[in-house]
Amino acid sequence: MSTPRILVVGSVNLDFVATAAKLPAPGETVTGATLARHPGGKGANQALAARRLGAEVALAARVGRDAMADEALALLRAGGVDLSACAVDDAAATGVALIAVAADGENQIVVAPGANAAFSRAHLAVSANDAVICQLEIPMDTVLAVAERAAGLFCINLAPSASTPDAIFARADLVVVNEGEAMFQGAALNRTPGLVAVTEGARGAALYRGGVEIARASPPSVKVVDTTGAGDAFVGALVMALLEKQPPEQALRFACAAGALAATKPGAQPSLPLRDAVDRLLAGAA
Ligand code: RIB
Repeated sequence: MSTPRILVVGSVNLDFVATAAKLPAPGETVTGATLARHPGGKGANQALAARRLGAEVALAARVGRDAMADEALALLRAGGVDLSACAVDDAAATGVALIAVAADGENQIVVAPGANAAFSRAHLAVSANDAVICQLEIPMDTVLAVAERAAGLFCINLAPSASTPDAIFARADLVVVNEGEAMFQGAALNRTPGLVAVTEGARGAALYRGGVEIARASPPSVKVVDTTGAGDAFVGALVMALLEKQPPEQALRFACAAGALAATKPGAQPSLPLRDAVDRLLAGAA
């Protein structure tokens, strides 16, 4: 089988990560945290996730003309993601995510989208690929334009939650949501003729078609350090597995294993697993 070719259209952020004993409640100050900076953004994370699992990947995105852009793109560059469709916006800053991570690995994220919010359909070039992956950290109209132009498998990760036009559900071959996002979308999820994958954190994930569960998988047991990027690893891995024609249950197990491994290390992109690590984990868990 030839190497799958995937285009990701989405966001690039620089993540500022404060790791503390617990997450703050509204109005509360939590001190004693340590600070780290990592490349992130759901689009960039999903692009690198698929690349580390063996796909040829291009990322269409926008960053600012600033020093944060270099830092945000460093691991994509090092990992061999094609950045020729990643443009520099003279009028906006590179996207930033402020992330708090607690001792149990749970997080809270606030995003200042910067150049991601200025990524309009006029900037879009959708090249021929086996699959196109989008998320909702760029304007919905741009996502709609991707859905209109995508050939091959079209995957939409409805994160973060936003009201989503019917045309996107109608075009999707694969919709990926977590439990909160599934609740937000409600019955709209049944409007897609494609597959719907719902991630359930430590319990794993389920795959539905037409509202009917067709597969379910649990992740191998791992020590969770930071769940940031685990969902992105899941998306990249599930698309990769489906392009490889893995049967639904096997594809879901592969994606759960990639997500679980991503939760064992700090940071979004630094934690995304290589193919070999996922295969070894699955072999041990079989
Ligand atoms: O999905 C994780 C990502 O969400 C982080 O990398 C952060 O940038 C936010 O976009």
